[in-house]
Amino acid sequence: MHARIIGTGHYLPEKVLTNAELEQRVETSDQWIRDRTGIRERRVAADGQTTGDLAEQAARRALDAAGVDPASIDLLILGTTTPDVVFPSTACMIQKRLGLGDCGAFDVNAACSGFIYALSIATQYIEAGTIKRALVIGAETLTRMLDWNDRATCVLFGDGAGAAVLEADESAGVLSTHIHANGDYSDLLKVDVGVSRGFTEEPRGGVKIHMKGNEVFKVAVNTLGRIVDETLAHNQLDKHDLDWLIPHQANLRIIKATARKLDMSMDQVIVTVDRHGNTSAASVPMALDEAVRSGRVKRGDLMLLEAFGGGFTWGAALIRY
Ligand code: UT7
Repeated sequence: MHARIIGTGHYLPEKVLTNAELEQRVETSDQWIRDRTGIRERRVAADGQTTGDLAEQAARRALDAAGVDPASIDLLILGTTTPDVVFPSTACMIQKRLGLGDCGAFDVNAACSGFIYALSIATQYIEAGTIKRALVIGAETLTRMLDWNDRATCVLFGDGAGAAVLEADESAGVLSTHIHANGDYSDLLKVDVGVSRGFTEEPRGGVKIHMKGNEVFKVAVNTLGRIVDETLAHNQLDKHDLDWLIPHQANLRIIKATARKLDMSMDQVIVTVDRHGNTSAASVPMALDEAVRSGRVKRGDLMLLEAFGGGFTWGAALIRY
């Protein structure tokens, strides 16, 4: 039994923040941001608009595309590092809004790899025959944790949500998922404030993203190179068998390095980082939905999804669409 994707959806907040606007806030330039990251603009959630709000809209679109009754979903998993509140989980809070009944619902925090982790868990439940249908979401409001005076981070991130409905299918679907983590690197990319450590009286409790971008970059390129090899070897497939690469969207240069490693042309790579920036757990499912709705990815195509993020965490999924 495979977990087959039967519907996808994504949602972006309305407000666009351009590089030109960021030039007014910090010492940066549109040229630097485009050359070093590939980002032209990103979306920012409106005041009061939460991760759960974005996730709900993306999920509704995925459920519509799948054409299934929301009450038939057996499991809801949301990958996020920016939950609405500490608890209840954001998954629990949107479960009822979506009309999902009393299925299991929880959040997964694996930073930018959150959607791949969530997809991996849902796939195991479906392959084991425990459930028939799952709703998997990646959603973030990372701009809420940005230090708008730190040019090393504030130009990189954006808000958004993506979702996929998975269903048990005998013929095709997720062929394998691979997840990894290495806490040795926890200092390179982090928010070092939480409920049980470091919470302060500063605005937003002192919560902000810190990243040693250059060091993260090098590990990301090497690690993503290894995970794509691991995934192909596990399935006894060659890189030339792949039709599509649907990568995490942190930096166009990282994406191009992975594509080169796979000997894929950029025509076979779904790129959204130019318009979305880095949306962490939301980036892969948003790129997937764009690929599906634009008609580029077709039934029967073989696609490789991958992600890398804080922790470090990383993962991949090979999917016969
Ligand atoms: O999604 C989770 C995983 N995250 C990632 O994979 C992100 C990985 N890292 C990156 O994408 C890149 O390292 C960045 C885009 C963050 C930075 O690009 P870089 O080419 O690695 O630049 P750098 O950090 O080596 O900095 C080069 C220069 C520095 O100036 P000096 O020391 O050469 O004078 C920085 O101070 O660029 C400067 N700089 C900026 N200049 C203009 C850093 N940020 C900016 C900026 N505008 N926004």
